[in-house]
Amino acid sequence: MFEILAMELLAPKIKRAEISAPLVARHARAGQFIILRLHEKGERIPLTLFKTDKEKGTVQIVFKENGKTTHQLGGLQPGDHILDVVGPLGKPTHVENFGTVVVIGGGVGSPIAYAVAKALREGGNHIIGIIGFRSQNLVVLEEDMREVCHELLVSTDDGSYGKKGFTTHVLQELVDAGRKIDYVFSVGPVLMMKATAEITHRHEIKTVSSVNPIMVDGTGMCGACRVCTKQGIQFACVDGPEFDAHEIDYDELFQRLNEYQKEEQQALERYLEES
Ligand code: FAD
Ligand code: FES
Ligand code: MG
Repeated sequence: MFEILAMELLAPKIKRAEISAPLVARHARAGQFIILRLHEKGERIPLTLFKTDKEKGTVQIVFKENGKTTHQLGGLQPGDHILDVVGPLGKPTHVENFGTVVVIGGGVGSPIAYAVAKALREGGNHIIGIIGFRSQNLVVLEEDMREVCHELLVSTDDGSYGKKGFTTHVLQELVDAGRKIDYVFSVGPVLMMKATAEITHRHEIKTVSSVNPIMVDGTGMCGACRVCTKQGIQFACVDGPEFDAHEIDYDELFQRLNEYQKEEQQALERYLEES
């Protein structure tokens, strides 16, 4: 059992949890994730490691209350326990000295953008962060990102805070302004990652996307997290979650992510009624 040490509301439906998980914390590296199972009848869901503290033996996650399981997780309080926390899973972020790196996080992609920006900065890169949200009230992790980025640009779709528009508009502006960009990392909604990859492909900038397909076992056995790339079929839990952004079939990824929407909606409605 894994104890919840903190549960904090960061923005509507977006929470940060700190969990006691000494073995995960000891081995975790940037870009990796955990798979949680809240209780015996619970499903398994993957969440990115936002921060880890080896000394305290704790990990932090930032998550959106999306459907049934994330609502249930968000309902837990300090002192409550989670049945399983498996990890760290996935390949760690590839870190080398690329030069100037743009790290883009859309919505709840921001916790992974933070972990990756921190690692790439420690690897000697100049980091330009771009984080984007629908609206000002949904902006999270801005201060954390400021700490690990040399420059940070915030955008909101409706212009209520920072630059108006999508993260891709901000990236395009940097490119148009002639900024030297050696490498781009992007994580967030599939359509955002696809649009980012289109821009960087045109400008021949090496780019990596951290993808988020449905996962079940996290060990490469079940096949749920299949991602089609130009290299063939890959499994995000063991081969990823980072892949060459110019090689991913984003349309297939998008379609697979939405495959169970009807059942997920029903499960959430039942859960909300019962609780
Ligand atoms: P549901 O209503 O069951 O599903 C809502 C939507 O979430 C679905 O339509 C589907 O697109 C997706 N989803 C559902 N089940 C899964 C599953 N088992 N695996 C993956 N996606 C699923 N979200 C965050 O808020 N913060 C994170 O740091 C984060 N990190 C992730 C890291 C990885 C490697 C992956 C693959 C996903 C990550 N997610 C993260 C997404 C998170 O796993 C889903 O939001 C969560 O599983 C939804 O579960 P639910 O029961 O609450 O919602
Ligand atoms: Fe089962 Fe990746 S989650 S193969
Ligand atoms: Mg679910």
